Formats: sequence, C-alpha cells, structure tokens
Amino acid sequence: MAEVLIVKSQEEAGEIYARAVVTALARNPQLVLGLATGSTPHAAYQALARRVKEDNLDVSRVQGFALDEYVGLDPEHPESYHSVIFREVVEPVGLNPDLIHVPHSDIDTLPHAGADYDAAIEAACGVDIQILGIGTDGHIGFNEPGSSLASPTRMKTLAEQTRLDNARFFNNDVNQVPMHCITQGVGTIMKAKHLVLLAFGKSKAQAVAASIEGPITAMCPASALQMHPHATFIVDEAAASELKQAEYYQWVARHKPQWQEL
Ligand code: F6R
Repeated sequence: MAEVLIVKSQEEAGEIYARAVVTALARNPQLVLGLATGSTPHAAYQALARRVKEDNLDVSRVQGFALDEYVGLDPEHPESYHSVIFREVVEPVGLNPDLIHVPHSDIDTLPHAGADYDAAIEAACGVDIQILGIGTDGHIGFNEPGSSLASPTRMKTLAEQTRLDNARFFNNDVNQVPMHCITQGVGTIMKAKHLVLLAFGKSKAQAVAASIEGPITAMCPASALQMHPHATFIVDEAAASELKQAEYYQWVARHKPQWQEL
C-alpha cells in the first residue's frame, strides 16, 4: 500500500516534501530530482527554496528532470514547462541551470526525443525523488487515461479535460493550449526511487480515491503507484474526501515507526 498523508494545507505538504529532499541531499549531494509543473508543487518548491537558504545547503550538483513539455510552444513562451521549471524551481531553489533537463519538443528531434530523454535519466542513475501532481482525470505527467502503464517517454495528445483544466494558464482560452506534449511515460516515472504525489482541493478527490483505492488500470494512470515500492501521497482534506479508508491512513501515519523516514 502506498503511504497516504492527509495534511491541513499545501504549506504542510510542502514542508514534508522539502524535508525528504533535504534528508536525501545530506546523503547524496548529486541528488536527482524529478520535477513537475502546474499549480500543485508550488508550495513544495517554495518550502525547498526556504530550507536551502536557511540551512545554506549546497545544491550545485543536484540534477533535475522535468516530467513533460508542450509540443508546439516555443521554449521561451512563459507557459512552456521549460520556462515554468526555471522560474518556479531552478531560480528560487538556486539549482545549477546546466544540470536541468526538460524534454525537447522541437519537431526535428521529436521522433527520438523520448528515447534520448529516458537515456539521459538512466545515465544520471535514475531519479531519486519524483514529485507528481495528478490530473482531474487521474493523469500523471501527461499520461492520459488509456496510457500504457509501462510506457516510456514519448509524444502524446492531451485530453480535452486537461486542456480545459490548463486553459487558466493561457488567458482562459482553451484554443491557446497546445494539443500535444512530450511526457515521461508511466514506466519511466515508475523507475524513480521515491514518488511523492501531491493533491489539493475537491476537484482532485475522485482521481485521488481511484489512484489509491481503485483497481490498477490504464484508465487511471496514477493507480500504477500502487505497484511502486516507495510511493507517498500527500493530500489535503478536500482531496482526501472520497477516500474510504481515510481514517485508517491517518492511524497508520500516527503510528509510523520512528526509524521509518518518508
Ligand atoms: C505537470 C504535470 C501534470 C500536472 C497535473 C496537475 O508537469 O505533469 O501531471 O501535475 O496536470 O496540474 P495542477 O497541479 O496544475 O493541478
């Protein structure tokens, strides 16, 4: 069973994520972080940036791999994931820009960009901590329902629901949201050593419940996390509201052995 932590706020979730990263960094200065975009990880990146500053941590050798990128959007566009990752993570946390990777989305290299990206992750000895958000349809990365649970990084077509959800980043105009993306596959994501999925708000409640308590199915790509040896869901009460076993998860969290880290 994945670990499920039900928290009061995004800030509390962010602190838990930051603590996990800082602990791992103390053991391995060449930590490899998997990075997500969207609204969900915001507080987590802010918490990490704070910890790095307060504790004067050396993050100069940390590598980062973004989950996904839009196809058909200039990398310099403010809403490209290249821009978002640099604005919201690399700059505030003080990561070395040369060690940050975002899938290449230019048309010329697209046919082999996915395989190249997976090879780069492997060459870095894999992702240590992968932060994830979840789509209202249960997607992780941009693996929409129906995506193979063994998929590698590759180009995908976004679901209409995801484009509608993301229109808020594009002047509320769904027509400006790209149709295609390149995304780490579910199989790629599952190779990360520790998966930390964050979800906040009622709109995520169904997807969270399906992921944790539903069947493992390509129709809910996040349900693959049930098969991962070290997956942690950190959700607020609204996102936890459809969980049948919420009380049990809270009981487990309260009685967690002290030696067991996140
Ligand atoms: C972003 C990503 C997506 C988002 C998901 C939730 O890199 O891969 O899976 O995590 O769409 O988005 P938000 O956080 O904006 O609700």
